[in-house]
Amino acid sequence: MALDRKTPNDLNAFWMPFTANRQFKKNPRMFVAAKDMHYTTADGRQVLDGTAGLWCCNAGHCRPKITEAIQKQAAEMDYAPAFQMGHPIAFELANRLVDIAPQGMEHVFYTNSGSESVDTALKIAIAYHRARGEGARTRLIGRERGYHGVNFGGISVGGIVNNRKVFGTMLGGVDHLPHTHLPAQNAFTKGQPEHGAHLADDLERIVALHGAETIAAVIVEPMAGSTGVLLPPKGYLQRLREITAKHGILLIFDEVITGFGRLGSAFAAQHYGVLPDMMTTAKGLTNGVIPMGAVLTTGTVHDAFMAGPEHMIELFHGYTYSGNPIASAAGIATLDTYREEGLFDRAAELAPYWQDALHSLRGTRHVIDIRNEGLIGAVELDPIPGEPTKRAFAAFLKAYEKGILIRTTGDIIAMSPPLIIEKSHIDQLIGTLKEVLEGLD
Ligand SMILES: Cc1ncc(COP(=O)(O)O)c(C=O)c1O
Repeated sequence: MALDRKTPNDLNAFWMPFTANRQFKKNPRMFVAAKDMHYTTADGRQVLDGTAGLWCCNAGHCRPKITEAIQKQAAEMDYAPAFQMGHPIAFELANRLVDIAPQGMEHVFYTNSGSESVDTALKIAIAYHRARGEGARTRLIGRERGYHGVNFGGISVGGIVNNRKVFGTMLGGVDHLPHTHLPAQNAFTKGQPEHGAHLADDLERIVALHGAETIAAVIVEPMAGSTGVLLPPKGYLQRLREITAKHGILLIFDEVITGFGRLGSAFAAQHYGVLPDMMTTAKGLTNGVIPMGAVLTTGTVHDAFMAGPEHMIELFHGYTYSGNPIASAAGIATLDTYREEGLFDRAAELAPYWQDALHSLRGTRHVIDIRNEGLIGAVELDPIPGEPTKRAFAAFLKAYEKGILIRTTGDIIAMSPPLIIEKSHIDQLIGTLKEVLEGLD
């Protein structure tokens, strides 16, 4: 079926995102179909999905319940206005999200992507303080190496240099915590590293510098994914929570990757036992099938807005597609699939096997660190002197040729397979990666 699809003969018009366009167009890599753990390439090969698409297809590909829900909803009601009108399934999905979220997360604001969730949460944070009469709290604190999407708010609080440096001045009033990567002390740690909780104390320095009364929120990924899987040192997130609470600063967890079972719990907040004031989500919310994101907030954050005349809009923010019916239907079917198949528990159960398999790569050529948590892992390579990223990109190309999909960021190989992965797939993924690395210059 899929193989009937013609490969286009002109690749010029599509300016591809986060892609080496010229390299790709000389030697294209096209997927034409997907099922469960595998993609099919245009030339008919099966490629094992080691990355759940882009950290999003947590239930695997083309899952029947999700496909059917989308088809049914498209035929029943394709779209309903998002402003001043409602439709039942957006409400149902919000309730379902609150049900699986940590206790205290009570409200859901819909977006279409992780980037929009982040910018939404930052705006809510600033507006929340203003609504409470603390309008001077406008500063936002992110973290070095953080990835919070690509919109201006997200790149301002984010800390990945290439995502920022060519885009001008960005938001003012932003500061950054230090990142938590301490390879000298923590290399090859299995799970959370021992060293680095003290890095959260840097927030006290930032507070002392700017004054707590000017700071609206701190945003971090509880486990930083896109920068190459950097885990929170033991005690770090607890410390951030204590300091933010002490100074009346909101804590936002960007759970765009860690949400929906990646670490073996619904959210990282539960996995690490730390309750933020807001959580940003997207990706696994609809199994990556339809664009959708959501910001979850505590009752306290939400309720601060529910004042003034009742006919007035409380938050001047939203998107044409916030809570889109087809996306909502996909979200409900996705949560059903996760629950019926026990996929969050499955991720937790498979995590030790995944950890052992990943760490078996220690000693493999070029490998200088391995990090893991839940069903996520990273293998860091020694960069080619003077040519950063080149070695990992070569590994990515070779891996694709050999039938596995991995992802690279800098000289780090990141993997985050669908939670339906079997042990035999893990063996194939890691075994093939070993061959690839041993064969690289
Ligand atoms: C933590 C985090 N936040 C935000 C985003 C941006 O999501 P999107 O690409 O859907 O805008 C990502 C994407 O990888 C992410 O990992």
